[in-house]
Amino acid sequence: MKSKKPIVLVVKTVYERVKTVFEEISDFEIVPAPTEEMALVEIVREKDPIAVVLNVDPYTGPLYDALQKGRLIARYGVGCDNIDFKKAAENGLYVTNTPGVLEATVAEFTVFLMGEVLRMPGLSTHDMKEGHWNQRMGRELRGKTCAILGLGAIGKKVSQILSFGFDVTVLALKKTIENPEELKEKYGVQKASTEFSEIAPRADIISLHLPANEETHHYMDKPRLQQLKRGSVLINTGRGALVDENALYDALKKNHISAAGLDVYQHEPYKPLDPQKDLRDLENVVLTPHIGSSTGECSRRMAERVIQNIRLWVKGEHNQMDVVSG
Ligand code: GLV
Repeated sequence: MKSKKPIVLVVKTVYERVKTVFEEISDFEIVPAPTEEMALVEIVREKDPIAVVLNVDPYTGPLYDALQKGRLIARYGVGCDNIDFKKAAENGLYVTNTPGVLEATVAEFTVFLMGEVLRMPGLSTHDMKEGHWNQRMGRELRGKTCAILGLGAIGKKVSQILSFGFDVTVLALKKTIENPEELKEKYGVQKASTEFSEIAPRADIISLHLPANEETHHYMDKPRLQQLKRGSVLINTGRGALVDENALYDALKKNHISAAGLDVYQHEPYKPLDPQKDLRDLENVVLTPHIGSSTGECSRRMAERVIQNIRLWVKGEHNQMDVVSG
């Protein structure tokens, strides 16, 4: 018998993480769906869902046409660079995300990644398990200068943790600077600037938190990497497309950048842009598979926020949703 409940498709990479939260939902029929666009489109056509819940994978093709006008694309997460807003708008679709529930989680992970790069507890565990008592020499976070490129909610949180928790001098790159006093008092930003050249070359650690868009594609390219201080460390928990991975490979190989901590990649799962420049071949890089928001607690909050947005959509309370387009 056909279910009367409205159908919500949840791509498998989200469903598998938060199955239990979605299983608690009784007002929709939750259907796990393939993540890959063409396979997803097929099931959209078959099931006619009121909403599709998407992860970070790119959707550039027929998904937008396949959904009925006015329906909902609910991003599980905040970054929406994988969504074609133009196509969504042309097809009258709403797009929502999940702000406010993951920023602190990603920020603390960013600092943990800095910790792994600087003190290497993960590598030391590996040494110990291999039977080696290898007292690796690390570097301290305290007293360093960190450039935070992109001072949105995550960048601000990283700044607070570093500045107030670790005595790090924080410099920040920001598109517009309205209230430097507030940035200093509330977030611990010593100096904010709109100019890369005033911020990044002074830093020991550079942490990327810019939004990914056409303007910021390969923002960390060869010329900008060359402007960084010799021996500095690059951390990226933002988006892979912010970094020209080939140029980064060269900078790490030459030790101009002494180490990098990366959680995000241009192609996910990671695939090198150039097989000759595979970041996995380098010793001075720490790599994690886009896990900035992957905690049980945060995943539940994001799933709940997705469900809240869908419920608001059903009630027609569109102005209460976390709308990013629509
Ligand atoms: C994760 O990367 C997100 O955008 O939420």
